[in-house]
Parts: sequence; structure tokens; C-alpha cells
Amino acid sequence: MIPFQPPSPDPFAPPNPSPIMACINFQGLILLLLPHILAVLSIDAAFAPEDIFLINCGGNETVTSADGRAFRPDIAGHDSTFVLSPISHNVVQVSSSDVYGSARIFRGATEYRFNFKRKGRHLLRLHFYPFKNPLYDMKTAVFSIKADEYTLLHNFSCSKLELGKSVLSKEYIIYAGLVLPITITPSNGSIAFVNAIEVMSVPNDLLPSVASPVPSGPAVKISPRIGFMTAYRINVGGLVLDPRNDSFWRVWGNDQPFLVILGSVHNISTNPKLIRYPSEVPHYIAPNLVYATAQEMADVNVGNQKFNISWVFKVESGYKYLVRLHFCDFLNKSAINPLFNVYINNQFALSSFDISKRVGLLNAYFVDFILDVQMESGRILVKIGPPELMSLPTNAILNGLEIMKLSDSNNNFDATCIEKVVGFEGMKKKKNLAFVIMTCMIGIVLLIFIVVMLLLFIRHRKDEKRLALAWFPSPIVQTTHMDNSETKISALSNVSSGPSLSIGQLLAFSEIREATKNFDEKFVVGIGGFGKVYKGVLENGLVVAVKRGNPRSQQGLVEFRTEIEMLSKLRHRHLVSLVGYCHEANEMVLVYEYMAGGPLRKHLYGSGLPALSWKQRLEICIGAAKGLHYLHTGAAETIIHRDVKTTNILLDENLTAKVADFGLSKMGPTLDQTHVSTAVKGSFGYLDPEYFRRQQLTEKSDVYSFGVVLLEVICARPAINPALPRDQVNIVEWAMNWQKRGQLEQIIDPHLAGAVSLDSLRKYGGTAEKCLAEHGSDRPSMGDVLWNLEYALQLQETFSSIVGDPSSSNSIQDLPEWISEVEILQHEHDATDVSVSTVFSQLMDPKGR
Ligand SMILES: *[C@@H]1O[C@H](CO)[C@@H](O)[C@H](O)[C@H]1NC(C)=O
Ligand SMILES: *[C@@H]1O[C@H](CO)[C@@H](O)[C@H](O)[C@H]1NC(C)=O
Ligand SMILES: *[C@@H]1O[C@H](CO)[C@@H](O)[C@H](O)[C@H]1NC(C)=O
Ligand SMILES: *[C@@H]1O[C@H](CO)[C@@H](O)[C@H](O)[C@H]1NC(C)=O
Repeated sequence: MIPFQPPSPDPFAPPNPSPIMACINFQGLILLLLPHILAVLSIDAAFAPEDIFLINCGGNETVTSADGRAFRPDIAGHDSTFVLSPISHNVVQVSSSDVYGSARIFRGATEYRFNFKRKGRHLLRLHFYPFKNPLYDMKTAVFSIKADEYTLLHNFSCSKLELGKSVLSKEYIIYAGLVLPITITPSNGSIAFVNAIEVMSVPNDLLPSVASPVPSGPAVKISPRIGFMTAYRINVGGLVLDPRNDSFWRVWGNDQPFLVILGSVHNISTNPKLIRYPSEVPHYIAPNLVYATAQEMADVNVGNQKFNISWVFKVESGYKYLVRLHFCDFLNKSAINPLFNVYINNQFALSSFDISKRVGLLNAYFVDFILDVQMESGRILVKIGPPELMSLPTNAILNGLEIMKLSDSNNNFDATCIEKVVGFEGMKKKKNLAFVIMTCMIGIVLLIFIVVMLLLFIRHRKDEKRLALAWFPSPIVQTTHMDNSETKISALSNVSSGPSLSIGQLLAFSEIREATKNFDEKFVVGIGGFGKVYKGVLENGLVVAVKRGNPRSQQGLVEFRTEIEMLSKLRHRHLVSLVGYCHEANEMVLVYEYMAGGPLRKHLYGSGLPALSWKQRLEICIGAAKGLHYLHTGAAETIIHRDVKTTNILLDENLTAKVADFGLSKMGPTLDQTHVSTAVKGSFGYLDPEYFRRQQLTEKSDVYSFGVVLLEVICARPAINPALPRDQVNIVEWAMNWQKRGQLEQIIDPHLAGAVSLDSLRKYGGTAEKCLAEHGSDRPSMGDVLWNLEYALQLQETFSSIVGDPSSSNSIQDLPEWISEVEILQHEHDATDVSVSTVFSQLMDPKGR
């Protein structure tokens, strides 16, 4: 790092470090630069940068941007403070009403040169809007941009612009002398373009000169010549702030897209006018709107309130990042202050942070950390949560968050530059030659091995398929009465010759459309995350459930593939089977066997269906447990369902239980994967508290959820019922209270009164209790659960043979026709059954904290 010599006329030098250091420096400064300081403090409210250039590239006239600022054209050349050379007359214009209405096009290297009034930190914003025009293909343009010696963009292109986004803006804060040349260079054969440029001076102390490293160590010095590129700037728990609300027209986004579990937070706010800025936190650090909103820990109703709130941000690996956290204390609290920890990438950043003491009521406060993002991780994970060993009131708060990428030692912001440098290292190559040869040889040996294994595997698969065929068709053939030789039955026609799928077969979209009468709304039986579910009848007479995906969702495509792959590998009497699928013309459709009895939940409460006997309930639980046991242990790798609940256990016409919707499960999510899908996985009330806290999924999370199902089956009430008194809202808390006192019989479904063997009930209650153990390692496996339930059934049968089962006639063989069609739809909209996030907002809001 180059040691920084503050140029003498610089009014802000030296840049102020973290708030504590800032305090000391500030006192020294006041003596030296009292007039300057006073001037700065007095203009805080409406900050006026000394240097400011707002350039409308390729435009004819001055235009006003959406935030009300005037951008002047880039040629007019009224003054000598800013020059474009050589002048490129290639421009494209769509409308001149705002800065995105025009762009200047470059065929060769071109320079925008800015003359400044002062040296020091300057903010730079580049805007790109690759609009459609007949002259130039801006979307595929590849070019590089340098600002003085900083490489801002290298072989950059807008072609990878995120879906739904049309404008790309890049923001940097760099050190500049009195002249700043910005050079734009198209790559070979390409053009370059830019729509607008903003350049303005910012106080040097906007960014720190020292920061605490994570993991912790001695404070790290940050040379003033280090450049920063904005990666994320978040107004946690608040609205998106438009540029007008910020001293430097910075945009502050919302934190929701980055939350790992949406339901873990509760937003709070105070009047922004009440926020105080102590002397070490200048007004321009962040607007009061940022400090006036925050996320705190939601009351998650999972018994143990100790968990972390986590946000995850994708970043480019191999760089250092500055993470700035903003805090303001306006928590409602009891006499004792909550302390909390802040972790960045699972390392302590702040330990037992006492916000009331450190920050002071309604004061603005920020703290900077610096960290290396290692090659393999590519993410920054920020967590806040209570210390584990203390029994204090648990709460944690965060108001704002900024993540900035630091330029590397070559002043690069772009990793592609680094790769090139590494590639030219001749020395390393020689050394590695022997290594390369060895790797090749190992590779060849491995390849041969894999080919041999593959051949063996294919042979094995063929045998397996024959077996599967012999075993599988029973349910379908029984119901269809079709001649197997007919190729019309696409559901079965390819079973023996299908290349990769042994069961679910490719169906023509036309066939599916016919089966559902062109997706008639009348046949909708449910709406899931993936899309609508229709009841349909295939040409061969087979009644099926048709799940039609939303073709526009990229996520949907991944889940669609997963589900087909999973379902084709899994085959079990207690898992709902896939009949076929269709992926053509932007359509993704999954076709399952139709489950006439609908979801288990309907048979427990809320639908007016006849009550199930205790024996039937036990048999259903045993069936579902067998399905889950198979998921956990039957396949080559453990499959975790992730969303076990009474609406995902379906019953067929004989009340045989089958587990559904497991195709979307697969292995535990890592935080690197789309956290969005993690956020919606799992339903409120069934969520394993350990998973909630650690975001680490094991099959024991399914065991927990199954424990909740067991309680729901015996008590005949929803897992969460917000309408009940506080202590009864959560079935786990409530029922476990009675179970621990040995009085579970007090709260069982009244329909079961007198017909349940107490021994059987004790066994059952004990099993549920074990499933619901706080720690996954204390919970039984699904195999153990199964064994215990079968034992409970035996106890019940012994009891019935003596007493006689009064409810044995209570069979549900004859379901009213309407049930399966209307009821399923209805339950999907039940407040207690939607994804965690929705419920939290409904549950948390009225109560307040
Ligand atoms: C900008 O100026 C050029 C040449 O002077 C002219 O052809 C063009 O129509 C102008 N565009 C707008 C939007 O006024
Ligand atoms: C705050 O929470 C409520 C409901 O919980 C939600 O509707 C609102 O959008 C949230 N506000 C922000 C800014 O996230
Ligand atoms: C931001 O500023 C604009 C204009 O000054 C104002 O209309 C808007 O309400 C502000 N945003 C918020 C969230 O207060
Ligand atoms: C919060 O996250 C940290 C870091 O990963 C972890 O050590 C800690 O146990 C978590 N706290 C809780 C309550 O799970």
C-alpha cells in the first residue's frame, strides 16, 4: 500500500477513521481547521460538494433526471472544467426527456477529463442503459473503463443484465488529484457506450482509514488511495430510499431479498426527526431515514427464542470488502438491556454488543469491518443474534448495512484482470509440469474406471427397470383396464425403454390440455408454490392430479427438474407417484396419481368429514412414517422432505397415507444457493427450531415436523391457531405441557374419548415428545418412530379386542364427491398453512412488541 501524504490544501485531511478514532482526530482538527469545520457542520443538512459534474452523454441539451437534478450535455463545452476527447459524434437518442434518453457511442479509446477544485475522495457513478436502436447493438458491446489508474470495468458488457432490469449503474469512490481522466476503451471490434456520468467530491472521512478486521485482529489501515466500489447499500427494515433522501444521491435498498429466513425478523421504526447525530457521526454518513427503521428479532413462537437473523450477499471472491453496519437504539425494552452478537461470515464482529450503552438512545452510530472474501465462498453472511450462554432478554437490531469492494493492489476492481496476470507467470508453469503429467495419468485411470462402472450400472438399471415394471403397474393398470400393448397410454408406453426415467413418462402437452379440459378453472384442486393443481382424466381413463408450473420462473425450472429426477428414483407405496410430465413450448407440467381422499388435515378438523378412529389415525401415521423412513434411508443419499405437514400427507380412496411434495426437498440447502427458496421452505408451526436457528438441515428436521403432525392427529387442531389464548397458540408448547405432566388424554380430540387405549396413547405421546426434542441429535430416527407407532397400534388392537371398538364403523370409504375438489383449494389459503413469512406478518403485526 502506498503511504498517503495528505496534500496541504485538503480541508478534510486526514480522513477520519471509525467513530472512536474520529472523535480524537476531530478534536485536533477543530483547533487547526475551526473555520472549515464550522462551515462543514452548518451545511450538513443540504450537503454541497465542491466538485460536481452531472453529464448527459450523447444528449443535445440539459435534462432533468427522475430525482430532479440537471444533467448537462457532454459536448457543449461551456467551460474548461470538463473535456471530452477525441469527440465521438456517434450518438443514439430515444427521447431527450431524461438521462437514459441518449448515449454516446465510442469506436476507439476516448477520454472524459474532469478538472477539480480539490484533491481527495470523489464519488463516481456510471450509468448504462443498452436500449434498442437500429444503429448499434449496445447489449453485446464489450469495453473497459479506467478512472486515472483505477480499472473500474474490464471487458464489461451489459449482456448479462439481470432479468427485468434495464439500467445498470456502477458506483465508486476513488482518490483523485486535481485532474481525473476517465478513459473508455472498446474491446477489439466492439463499440463502447455510456449514458450518464456523475462525479462529485465527497468528504474524505466518508470512508474510514482504519477498520477492525474479521476475524478479529489488530486494526487494519486503509490507504486513502484504495478505491471502493459499492456492492450493497441497504436500509434494513425500511423502504427503498430514492437519491433525493441522501446527501450524495445514493440509493438505499430494502433488506428482504437478502434475508435467509423472512420470518425471523420484525420491522420497527421511529420518527426520523428524533434521530440525533453525535459529532463523530456526520449527517452525510447516512440519512436519518436509515437510522429510523430497523429489523429486530421476530417473536418466532418456537419456544426457544435464541436464533440468529441472517442476511446473505453474493460478492466476487478474491477481494477485500468493507462492511459498514449502522445502528440506532430505539428498542422497546424492559429494565435489562438486550445484548447481542454480530457475526460476519460466521466470525465474531461484535461480541455481546450493548447497544444502549455504546450508542445511546436515538443516536446514529456506525462501525466498519474489513474482511477477505475467500475464493471458494463468494458470499458475505451477516448474522445478528443473542449470545448463547446468557439468559438476558433476547433481541438484536440492525438499521443499515453497506458492503463495498476494495480495489486490489493494482487498483483493479475487476477479477478478469487478475486472472491474466496469473496466467503469465512462467516460473510456476515449469514447476507444475510434473504435477500436470501426474494429474493426467490419474485422470485417465479414473476415466477408464468410470466407464467400466457406468457399463455395469446401465446393465444393473435395466434389470431394475424390469423389476420395477413388474411391480409398479398394479395401481395404474387396475384402474385403467387398458391394453398394455396400446401405445396410446403414454403414461406406461415407455416404461421399459425410457432412457433415463423408469416411471414418470413424457406426455404431450395436447394430451394434458385435453385431460384438464384446457386447464378449466373448475378442475383446480389446489394452488402450490409451483403453480395450480388440476384434476384431470387421461385418455386412458386414469384420474390424475396435474401440476402446471409457471413457465417464467427460473426457480421453477430447477425445481421441476429436481422433482422429476427425485420422483423417478423413488418408488414406494407411501409416496405419491409421478405418472408423467411434460416440458414443451414453455410449459412445465407434472402429472401425479390422483389421491381421492385428499390431505390428511381435512380428515382431522375443519371440513365436517366423519372423524377417523384411533386405529385409522395410527395406520395413517404409520404409513406416512414409512414414506419418510424410505426417503431418509431408501435412496443412495438421504433425502430430506423439508415440508412435512398434514396437508402434504395425502390419502387415497382406501385411506392409505402417501407423502407428497417431496420432489422439492433434496439435500440440505447451503447458504450459497438461492436463499429465497430456503426462506419459503417449511411451514410455520412445523419448523424445527434448530433448523431455524442454525439453517442447517438434517433429516431430524423432518422428524420434528412429523412430531407436530402426530400432535395434530391426536388433538385435531392446527399446529398454530392465532385465535386461541397465548399459551395455546402453538400446539407444541401446549400439548407438550400436558404430555410432560402425563395428562395428554385431557386434550385429545373429543371424538376419540373412551375409544383409545391409555397405554397406546402413552406410547404415542412419548413418541411425539421425543420427535420434538430441542436438539436434533436427541430425536429418534424415522425408523424408531415407525417402530413405536406400530407398537402403539398393537396396544390399541389388544385393547379393542377386549373392549370392542365403538368407532370401527366410522369408516370414511364413501367420501362425498365434492370434498376432494373444493376442500383442497380451501386449505391452501388457510392462514395457518402458508409460508413462514406470510404468517409472521399476520401474526406479529397486530401484537407489536
Ligand atoms: C440533437 O441534435 C442533432 C444534430 O444537431 C439533431 O439531428 C437531433 O434531432 C437532436 N435531437 C434531439 C432529440 O433534439
Ligand atoms: C414491515 O412489515 C410489514 C408487515 O410485517 C410489511 O407489510 C412491510 O412491507 C414491512 N416494511 C418494510 C419496509 O419492509
Ligand atoms: C425522499 O425524498 C423525497 C423528495 O424529497 C420525498 O418525496 C420522499 O418522501 C422521501 N422518501 C422517504 C422514504 O421519505
Ligand atoms: C449464530 O451464528 C453463530 C455463527 O455462525 C453461531 O456460532 C451461533 O451458535 C448462532 N447462534 C444461535 C443462537 O444459533
